[in-house]
Amino acid sequence: MKTLKFFTFSVFFIAISKGEDDFHPKPLIEIAPHIELNDVDSRLRDLEGFNEYWNNKAQNYIADQLKSNLNTKKAKNLILFLGDGLSISTVAATRMYLGGEEVELDFEKFSHYGLAKTYCVDRQVSDSACTATAFLSGVKNNYRSLGLTANVLSNQCNFNDSDITYSMLKWAQDAGKATGIVTTTRITHATPAGAYAHSPHREWENNAAISSTCRNSNTSRIVDIAHQLIYNEEAQKFKVILGGGTRHFLNTTMQNEEGRAGERTDGRNLIDEWLQERNKIGKAKYFWHKQQLDELNVDDTDYLLGLFEHDHLMYRLDVVNARLQAQEPMLTDLTRAAIKMLKKEDNGFVLLVEGGRIDHAHHSNYARKSLDETAEFARAIELAKLMTNEEETLIVVTSDHSHVFTYAGYPLRKNDVLRTAGRGDDRMPYETLSYANGPGYDRTFDENGVRANMTEDDFSFRSRRYSAMVSLSSETHAGEDVGVYANGPWSHLFQGSYEQNVIPIAMAYAAKIGPYADIILESTTTQSMANGIYIMPVLLIFGLILSVFKILL
Ligand SMILES: *[C@@H]1O[C@H](CO)[C@@H](O)[C@H](O)[C@H]1NC(C)=O
Ligand SMILES: *[C@@H]1O[C@H](CO)[C@@H](O)[C@H](O)[C@H]1NC(C)=O
Ligand SMILES: *[C@@H]1O[C@H](CO)[C@@H](O)[C@H](O)[C@H]1NC(C)=O
Ligand SMILES: *[C@@H]1O[C@H](CO)[C@@H](O)[C@H](O)[C@H]1NC(C)=O
Ligand SMILES: [Zn+2]
Repeated sequence: MKTLKFFTFSVFFIAISKGEDDFHPKPLIEIAPHIELNDVDSRLRDLEGFNEYWNNKAQNYIADQLKSNLNTKKAKNLILFLGDGLSISTVAATRMYLGGEEVELDFEKFSHYGLAKTYCVDRQVSDSACTATAFLSGVKNNYRSLGLTANVLSNQCNFNDSDITYSMLKWAQDAGKATGIVTTTRITHATPAGAYAHSPHREWENNAAISSTCRNSNTSRIVDIAHQLIYNEEAQKFKVILGGGTRHFLNTTMQNEEGRAGERTDGRNLIDEWLQERNKIGKAKYFWHKQQLDELNVDDTDYLLGLFEHDHLMYRLDVVNARLQAQEPMLTDLTRAAIKMLKKEDNGFVLLVEGGRIDHAHHSNYARKSLDETAEFARAIELAKLMTNEEETLIVVTSDHSHVFTYAGYPLRKNDVLRTAGRGDDRMPYETLSYANGPGYDRTFDENGVRANMTEDDFSFRSRRYSAMVSLSSETHAGEDVGVYANGPWSHLFQGSYEQNVIPIAMAYAAKIGPYADIILESTTTQSMANGIYIMPVLLIFGLILSVFKILL
């Protein structure tokens, strides 16, 4: 009956369309068959239909804000959780994926929020390499370029030492702290490489991948990224390195434990070289299987390298589906092992953890997988918070860039976010989640360019590609700001709207490490706590004047 009523109303509405509200026309919802409209409506109204419900909710929020004391203690530990491609729409849709509109992901309970601007020196919309340089070393640079200033172009074979940027992991090492990197992608991929590599091009991950111009030039100083992970000064000090990507560490004639050959052509086995090098200074272990991680004895391990796949780690949904949980670690497993390794250090630690496949799923228009990877990312953050003390550990959660992913239409409350939101003017259903571009185009339109129908069965498929307006083999990033969520000492520094490169400098400020530490220590003694947020720009200007002064001397 209800459905019928809605339907007649919709028809009537078309007849009088373009009436009172042209911008928010009543959508033509012939409610999708999976929605039990009456049920949902009445249950929500019983609670949310009263003034008190909303007033209490608002008052509780304000009470929490008033309670929160600003923590201005020196941070002993810093953890940066980077959700690659974790746009704000992805965060919102993941709440639905985990149970409903009111769900809060763990990092949404953090004490302070801000927004970061993600453009790079030469691009409005950035990639993961230039953004990694910004959020790890505090300097914006060029698209595809890692750990080098924008003076260096992405195909350049040479650079000066003064063009090198160092990440906050190096700043931490210089201050005697332990460091580590964790990712679900190849360990030589852009985000983790931002912590240790200096490469004009992010794709130069093994010797054969370096451009022929730079490989054959006599003056080239290009070294592949996998090699840099074994021999760069900062990489040599990493206590824990966990991710995927054996393909860039082995020669084409050598196989990993799972029988997959490498891509190097220089005859080197960099995993063996890593073991030899680190065993000179401590006890080093190499893991390739989840069971080894589960049985990790941190007292017997000084350096840990884990590479669990030939390429990226598998999507969590595929691991679960193929029943590979005993073999393939998930982000929570990697995070647990890394924190166990680093917690034993007296001077504290700095850890980078990347949920790297949120981005890959979006590039394929696999909306379900992207939300599932985000859910796992949130669980890893929750675990990190449980394993550390928030009085002395600053956790910052952010993203490198957004994606052209929208959460749209006027779906009813509690509607399954992975399904349809209504019908278009063509009377065909459209999804709540869709993309401005990407490979999903092929299933959005039929061969005549007419929007294709969707069947209920489609939606249970875990690799379903969601609709895309422009055909592109890989969906693109987007240019709007990303969220920054902070908890722990000095988390209030992360309030407001700022450039992405402020993030590592503010984190370093909280721990009193890095190039700004001395200046900051002097200034804080004269500043009141409440002025904390305004100290940063003043200090940066002060720092600039000081360095100009140094140059003149
Ligand atoms: C290195 O610095 C020198 C002196 O400033 C400059 O002439 C040269 O072009 C620089 N090289 C590169 C590759 O940027
Ligand atoms: C580069 O090296 C080759 C062989 O070592 C040599 O013949 C050639 O002259 C060099 N070119 C330059 C520009 O130095
Ligand atoms: C490494 O691979 C190259 C081919 O890519 C091969 O010519 C060479 O013999 C291999 N080296 C070793 C030590 O296996
Ligand atoms: C679209 O698919 C649904 C479900 O399979 C079906 O009921 C409907 O008739 C189809 N619509 C068109 C226009 O083909
Ligand atoms: Zn991407």
